[in-house]
Amino acid sequence: MKRRKFLKRASITGLGLAVTPSIASCTTENKKEQKVAAIGKAVVPITVATWRFHNATKAAWEVLEKGGTAIDAVEQGCRVEEADVKNTTVGKGGAPDRDGNVTLDACIMDKNGNYGAVVCMENIVHPVSVARKVMEETPHVLLAGKGAEQFAVEQGFKREKLLTEASKKAWEKWKIKSEYKPIINIENHDTIGMLAIDKNGDISGACTTSGMAYKMAGRVGDSAVIGSGLFIDNSVGGATATGMGEEVLKTVGSYLIVELMRQGRSPQEACEEGVKRIVSSNPNYKNFQVGYVALNKQGEYGCYCIHGGFGISKYQEGKQTYIESGSYIPKT
Ligand code: GLY
Repeated sequence: MKRRKFLKRASITGLGLAVTPSIASCTTENKKEQKVAAIGKAVVPITVATWRFHNATKAAWEVLEKGGTAIDAVEQGCRVEEADVKNTTVGKGGAPDRDGNVTLDACIMDKNGNYGAVVCMENIVHPVSVARKVMEETPHVLLAGKGAEQFAVEQGFKREKLLTEASKKAWEKWKIKSEYKPIINIENHDTIGMLAIDKNGDISGACTTSGMAYKMAGRVGDSAVIGSGLFIDNSVGGATATGMGEEVLKTVGSYLIVELMRQGRSPQEACEEGVKRIVSSNPNYKNFQVGYVALNKQGEYGCYCIHGGFGISKYQEGKQTYIESGSYIPKT
């Protein structure tokens, strides 16, 4: 069956219908038969997140099932990972930059297209909540570094050391090798990007990360940059990204995916096109990972990545699911 035809058949319009996500075979541009997670039809409310961040989607679901808003859900979900010191890619316990400083990036976007973000912020455990304060309490959208930290403290956030003993040890081991080779996605998880639709059918999103491990001081990736790590349009849907931020930034990935959905592509098709834009212009694509997740206002979702190993957590109808993403390079 031709892929486009399959996707069309799998797509049923209107909210409130549940279709179990299925796996479809499709022929991609590189002519290799690959498996992709086909679009799923969601019953709202719904929340999806990058990777196996089940605790985050559970926390978001707890907000949604009580009738809470999508913006509260994604904030609460992201906070779970930011506080988890075992997660070395987000918040406290995140891997530091090459100088040993943990610097965090996060953003949030609501149903009205409002956006708030912080980049390169130190000593504050919950950048996603600071990003929300930037959005709601300031005339600005993005605060960086010391200014972001100062604003957070003024808003009542406590300064805390973010470098854990475990992360410090790993960084010291890396330093002995003394080569500049930033690491991303080596452990199959990275940035958390979350999307949620609440009972009113409104969508919001958030994205938070400690960025690339052992990055150059001052390096900022895609996660907190509007249109790259996250984009929400309440008339269309939302998208979020994980992986090599530089590549997502160069292609304004999340904005691209939302615009493709606006033009009629399904979330799955839009995520695949987002990945193709990267691989078609970067011959080095085999050496890095990028993964996208998208959710449209009809409750359909999709995900796609460059390498296998990526997937999304979904919470819907009181049930947690993990959906393995299709990939441009088939998993061996
Ligand atoms: N996607 C996370 C980063 O590149 O910082």
